[in-house]
Amino acid sequence: MAEAEAPSGTDGVVDDEVRRRLALVLDTDDLVEAHRLATRLRPWFGVAKVGLELFSAAGPDAVGSLRDLGYQVFLDLKLFDIPTTVNRACRVLGALGVEYLTLHAMGGVDMLRAGVEGLEEGAARAGLPAPTSLAVTVLTSDDSAPPHIVPNRVRVALEGGCGGLVLAAADLQTARELAPRLKRVVPGIRLPGSDRDDQARSASPQEAAANGADLLVIGRTVTKAEDPAAAAAAVASAV
Ligand code: C5P
Repeated sequence: MAEAEAPSGTDGVVDDEVRRRLALVLDTDDLVEAHRLATRLRPWFGVAKVGLELFSAAGPDAVGSLRDLGYQVFLDLKLFDIPTTVNRACRVLGALGVEYLTLHAMGGVDMLRAGVEGLEEGAARAGLPAPTSLAVTVLTSDDSAPPHIVPNRVRVALEGGCGGLVLAAADLQTARELAPRLKRVVPGIRLPGSDRDDQARSASPQEAAANGADLLVIGRTVTKAEDPAAAAAAVASAV
């Protein structure tokens, strides 16, 4: 079987509802390699996450071509700049047809609101639904943030009009209490026995799902596994 092919007989074994809760991290500078991985792991994933590396390399083409493979696209650019600049960037990004876009909650209420408005304007101009804006609370590589930071950033995200939060599994309860209507997106997921790499606040897929994660961001625990398809199946069976 060519590497780019999806394994036969496995497409559709996982419910669409589960697949829409699993975002596949495509951290590479090579769109061909990203496609190979996305095609191979499509049976378990409904969302493809394009981060700084792939977007820097391939730009909007990465978004369009992953949509063509049937994925919802999660554009993880973690925007953080003055409100006008974020608004103008979001007007462009809102027209690309992505499902999710990240902005840093550290940027404050005005910045988030400017971003959300930009996304709505851009999407309306393109005749598309507006992407869900996700506020990044604290990076999961950072275990030094004082305890008041996450609740503060959740409040900032609410006031800024964001549709969701990116947070560590350990902060899910805070999010459920303070902002029950916001979508909860959790990176730093590791299967038992998997290397933590640079993730300081990791959790298993079971822990994240049981604590109320709506969308799990799945990276190296699957993409660098000896058998990525088996690891993907293990993740999917846990949520
Ligand atoms: O699972 P893995 O560590 O490989 O996933 C890393 C991905 O998750 C990276 O693309 C990183 O940018 C993203 N991410 C994160 N922590 C956040 C937000 C996003 O690790 N708070």
